[in-house]
Amino acid sequence: MHIKIPLSGPDISELEIAAVTAVLRTPRLSLGEKLVEFESQLARYADCAHGVAVSSGTAALHLALLVAGVQPGDEVIVPSFAFIAVANSVRFVGAIPVFVDIHERTLNLAPAAVQAAITSRTRAVIVVHTFGIPAAMQELLEITRRFGLRLIEDACESLGAEYHRRKVGSLGDVGTFAFYPNKQITTGEGGMLVTNDAGMAARARMLRNHGRGTSADGFDHQELGYNYRISELNCALWLAQRRRKCMPKNCAISRIWNCHRQRSLTEKLVGLSMWFASPRVLAEAELAIASPRHSRIAASAAPDILRRFIFSGPTAMFPIGARI
Ligand SMILES: Cc1ncc(COP(=O)(O)O)c(C=O)c1O
Repeated sequence: MHIKIPLSGPDISELEIAAVTAVLRTPRLSLGEKLVEFESQLARYADCAHGVAVSSGTAALHLALLVAGVQPGDEVIVPSFAFIAVANSVRFVGAIPVFVDIHERTLNLAPAAVQAAITSRTRAVIVVHTFGIPAAMQELLEITRRFGLRLIEDACESLGAEYHRRKVGSLGDVGTFAFYPNKQITTGEGGMLVTNDAGMAARARMLRNHGRGTSADGFDHQELGYNYRISELNCALWLAQRRRKCMPKNCAISRIWNCHRQRSLTEKLVGLSMWFASPRVLAEAELAIASPRHSRIAASAAPDILRRFIFSGPTAMFPIGARI
């Protein structure tokens, strides 16, 4: 049987349309109250003290490397399997991406391979929490601390994922999220840098807006800056998506995925490979065959859920992250 799985798609209701329209009726289309609300809501959700919203996940990664102090010629360890923005952002700051192997089940950085790749020029590690699955943070934190390296968490695909009860993005020095339409929650285009370091957050905020300082006329440019601002329209879209509580629904799915993550499903799903079956689809599929003992959802509901996710769309490519 040939099964077609929709990769992704935004889920936009009248609530989002009304929220964006309401912003258009105001004179404040950028750097307004929606930005402040978006940043504080997401930072709180991600267990971080500070959030700096930007125009994309790539912009967030670029700023993360800058505030982490990565310099031209430094080496930055990145996963060999990741979206190209990860390696590109390392090149933006003139540093050298050093590709390191991943773990075949989680698709995330293999800590032993990270340690083996460290040289005297290594300055930072970017760990990507791939497809909603948290990476081995305990080991990575231990290695980066031991070698005095910065740890940047790319949580662009993993909003809501938890590692030992802490949200991904909050465990390293600085974290990044992305809100392109294939993500758990979309802003159309957008991203966020999160950190618990007030100095890093202040510098990222300044770099996002042309390197502007805080003078009254706004024309003291303290260093080379960028226009990585995100509009009020995008921020309002995120806030409306969040109000619809798409995330808790997805969380339930990912809990089930996580519950069974030790077992490989691929052999049970003829025609589906890891590539095409995202963790969410696998989670749904697993739900369908899981014993009720393991599932929070009645077993009788499972086949219907499986059908809905495999045969109809759109569905998000990246599930709300698993909890491990
Ligand atoms: C792991 C990862 N990092 C970074 C990005 C870049 O995000 P954006 O497309 O918003 O620049 C993505 C986007 O898919 C991603 O999956």
